[in-house]
Amino acid sequence: MNYSMASTGIRQDIEELPFSPIREIVRSAEGKKDIIPFWFGEPDVSTPDFIRESAKLSLDRGETFYAPNSGQMLLRETICEYMNGIYGTEITTENITVSVSGMNALMIAAQALARKGSKVVVLLPSWPNIPAIQRIMGAKLEGVPISMKDGKWNLDLDQVIDTCDSNTSAIVINSPNNPSGWTMSNEEQKALLDYSRKQGIWIVSDEVYARIYFKSDHAPSFCEIMDQEDRVVVVNSFSKSWAMTGWRLGWITAPSNLEVQFEKLTEYNVAGPAPFIQQAGITALCKGEDFIRESNGRYQKALSYFQEWAESQERIEFVPPHAAFYAFFHIWDGKDSLEMAKDLLKTSGVGLAPGCAFGPQYDSYLRLCFATSIPKLEKGLERLEKWIKGLK
Ligand SMILES: Cc1ncc(COP(=O)(O)O)c(C=O)c1O
Repeated sequence: MNYSMASTGIRQDIEELPFSPIREIVRSAEGKKDIIPFWFGEPDVSTPDFIRESAKLSLDRGETFYAPNSGQMLLRETICEYMNGIYGTEITTENITVSVSGMNALMIAAQALARKGSKVVVLLPSWPNIPAIQRIMGAKLEGVPISMKDGKWNLDLDQVIDTCDSNTSAIVINSPNNPSGWTMSNEEQKALLDYSRKQGIWIVSDEVYARIYFKSDHAPSFCEIMDQEDRVVVVNSFSKSWAMTGWRLGWITAPSNLEVQFEKLTEYNVAGPAPFIQQAGITALCKGEDFIRESNGRYQKALSYFQEWAESQERIEFVPPHAAFYAFFHIWDGKDSLEMAKDLLKTSGVGLAPGCAFGPQYDSYLRLCFATSIPKLEKGLERLEKWIKGLK
């Protein structure tokens, strides 16, 4: 880790951490009126009542004390039941650590796995926090892009394997992917797991969009193919599927011998989520299936609307995703996505995330979150269309 000091007197690599370009766009909208925001990755509805009620009841019962670091046993048991029901697995509570969000789970995984100075391979495009976490840990980051070809996103597994070496501690995969919606198949997962078994390299699989999947009930998961002793850490979150982004609740599934290690890291980071939040998590898992189905139905309608619009646009190349709730599209002759996003916001009042946030290769891309209503999407796309027509 580079502990040299920067001008502020703190670690230089922290001072040099970039701000998220998405936040930069959001900041530039401060004080502006008539903005249509599609920049953040979250549903535009509040958490369902039945989940909120269960947190209120827990508070009324006075459940306001420290909780166990690995999470309340009832929540861990409920997570096991949920996972085993979906994936047909035999996960037990020793495999589960409750975390303060998916973000916290990814950070705990990196704190445990990213050896100082080791290489961490990250698939691109990537949600910006994943590379940032590796930088904070002092790991050497190497990105492997999946590419858009023949109307789909393709992973070159050989390239991932060729990028790894004896100094590689982990490969981080986010599937279903934010922003592209690309989803890794079970065959690809098996091939990578084989490689991990031979080389002892950890796989961190960020599956926070596992249930926002339009082909079946859930996206392919490493949980379905891994054994107890495999070096795989799977990250999940309540944020997206249960519309709980502000609650900060997630979980890790990992080999049972890591539980005690994650317990220590949780103690020294955050000492776990609040007990009434965990109660809400239990309710979400037990009663949330209808909400998930309805939400996915709305996202699919919004996606169809976007797709029809995109097909009518000459300058847009767009691969419709089968998962998550993002349209990540390429603009022919578009460049400097940060400038494009700023200009779009300034002149048209539409807030999108710039492609550069997800990797330097994507500077001609913009990302729109379609977890929103059709009237809002319609209004936003009318403005976007005008803006694109005005582009040089
Ligand atoms: C790929 C990915 N992983 C993890 C997260 C973190 O989710 P949270 O910290 O809200 O649980 C996000 C949020 O946008 C994400 O897109």
